[in-house]
Amino acid sequence: MPSLNDATRGRILYGGDYNPEQWPEETWLEDVRLMKDAGVNSVTLGVFSWAKLEPRPGERDFGWLDRLMDLMHENGIGVVLATPTASPPPWMGHLHPDTLPVDQDGRTEWWGGRQHFSHSSATYRRYAAAVTEDLAARYGGHPALTMWHINNEYCTYDWSDEAAVRFRGWLQGRYGTLDALNEAWGTAFWSQGYGDWAQIHTPRHAHYLKNPTQVLDFKRFTSDMLLECYVAERDIVRRATPHLPVTTNFMPLWVGQDAWRWAEEEDVVSVDLYPDPRDPLGAQNGALVQDMTRSQARGPWMLMEQAAGPVNWRGVNHPKPRGLNRLWSLQAVARGADAVCYFQWRQSRQGAEKFHSGMVSHAGEEGRTYQEVKQLGAELARISAEVTGSHTANDIAVLHDWHAWWAGAQDGRPSTQVDYPDLLRAWHRALWEAHLTTDFAHPEHDLSAYKLVVVPQLYALTDAAIENLLAYVRDGGTLVSGFLTGVADEDDRVRAGGMDARLRELFGIRTLHEWWPLDADEHVECGGFRGTLWSEEIETSEEAEVEAAYKGGELDGLPAVLRKGRAWYLSTLPEPDAMRDLLARVAAGAGARPVLDALPAQVEAVRRGDLLFVLNHGRESVTVEVPGTHHDLLTGATVRGEVTLGRYGVAVLKP
Ligand code: GLA
Repeated sequence: MPSLNDATRGRILYGGDYNPEQWPEETWLEDVRLMKDAGVNSVTLGVFSWAKLEPRPGERDFGWLDRLMDLMHENGIGVVLATPTASPPPWMGHLHPDTLPVDQDGRTEWWGGRQHFSHSSATYRRYAAAVTEDLAARYGGHPALTMWHINNEYCTYDWSDEAAVRFRGWLQGRYGTLDALNEAWGTAFWSQGYGDWAQIHTPRHAHYLKNPTQVLDFKRFTSDMLLECYVAERDIVRRATPHLPVTTNFMPLWVGQDAWRWAEEEDVVSVDLYPDPRDPLGAQNGALVQDMTRSQARGPWMLMEQAAGPVNWRGVNHPKPRGLNRLWSLQAVARGADAVCYFQWRQSRQGAEKFHSGMVSHAGEEGRTYQEVKQLGAELARISAEVTGSHTANDIAVLHDWHAWWAGAQDGRPSTQVDYPDLLRAWHRALWEAHLTTDFAHPEHDLSAYKLVVVPQLYALTDAAIENLLAYVRDGGTLVSGFLTGVADEDDRVRAGGMDARLRELFGIRTLHEWWPLDADEHVECGGFRGTLWSEEIETSEEAEVEAAYKGGELDGLPAVLRKGRAWYLSTLPEPDAMRDLLARVAAGAGARPVLDALPAQVEAVRRGDLLFVLNHGRESVTVEVPGTHHDLLTGATVRGEVTLGRYGVAVLKP
């Protein structure tokens, strides 16, 4: 199978979405000059070009794209060619309303924006396949082409009649019989028993709470339908160019796609990442997405999109202070990115994203944004040869599963304050702040390479996943789990006892009497730290050791942190500092160590291959101890024993 290496060929890909159809052709020449000056070696063309490529049904206009492909090739810039299928032309919805998605209230999502396609529409799929075939036939042999980019940020839901037909087919594949479906969905509750497949719909607007397993299956179905659309286009381009990698860009921690499953179908895993420059946890949140993407890729990955300056979709859209774009780009490289790309090359002057930054902002060549982009291009070129293709194993894994997320995020649950992505962020942040680097893994993955596995929360677990966790601990691994883990099976049926018996036994929980969720502003004293969000009334078994107990209130003396051997259980969410200290202590006991000792709080140290990246996320300059002698690939300086990093400074050290 082709991989990212086939596109990078030893150079970090640098560039971004290029939408030249928004500009007169004279601007293209100016673009190329600026790209070359900035070290841009890769552009993504055609993401939203369907109306231009197919102005009327079945007609093709490739002339402009021919000229661009040639122009890029003449200038040594590779092209990641996109299929344009994320934004069908107006004629399609007009002629074929069946291509438009319908929301759960029955409202059509019209053209005039983007992503207004029904994943289930046979008509849409037919047009998408045809334009993809023609692109592959025309450009498959073009020397500028380095990679395929299918669609863009697959994210549509569809409750339409055609989706309902496909949903029934999908359910027949999963359950075989209506009896099995009725059993899995628990339709004995509220008189929901189905007597004919035709009675089953997508979970549309309902008077009160919907059947949770129906909703869960609809989420699985949606992810699978979008994946079918991706695979259909991927297979077309793959037939034309079996030697070139294919990708589609994920949104970070996006709820709608089971990205573990999707990553298996991609040659290159890519992600779009837009932390808020004002967010004090921006670096931590970025690191989480980077760790997750690298883990999905099982190696180097592609930062497909980031912003060189402000985005335009937050309430208040902050620019990046000087140096932050460089810092966050190098943070991605440290965590395995072999491509640093942006949305978009040149900031638009019209359309919905005209106030979203580009690598060339409205201020143009003289603008700070472009000047910083240019400096970064030169620096990436300097480190490319040492970086690309390299990978590092980590000692710690954070477990994450979309199905558990979907099942746990339903209406009618014990507390709407409990938010799955927030828990992932809280646990990952604690590791980040303890200077521990981590992978992500699926609960059914082989975990034997890890010294420590942490489970922020896995509400629903399959038997296979539970057995996997038990085997991991039995074989010497250390496991730390948060609350609301192992509550349900894959049908969202609550396990006997309110938590799987095997897991209760693992953690030393005899009886889980009640959950005591906390209000937003509430906390519980745990003797030395405060717990937030959640608490539990647990009766322990004899072998359990209580590491921290609730103080005062109804739960006085009951375990907040519980441990049986190498299996730890947290029945609350400790405040951030306590969480950091706890995970640092457990990690040390498990033999998982930070990359460098004695790091200042805002500094992270990340290994990639034999390189050591040291990144200062603070605005004050810091001196960091780095044992031994290194060569800083960015400055060319020799580093002996310590390195000083200015505001947002980075060192890329080679021993
Ligand atoms: C997404 C899309 C881009 C653009 C950016 C703006 O990542 O893929 O087309 O809309 O958001 O941030």
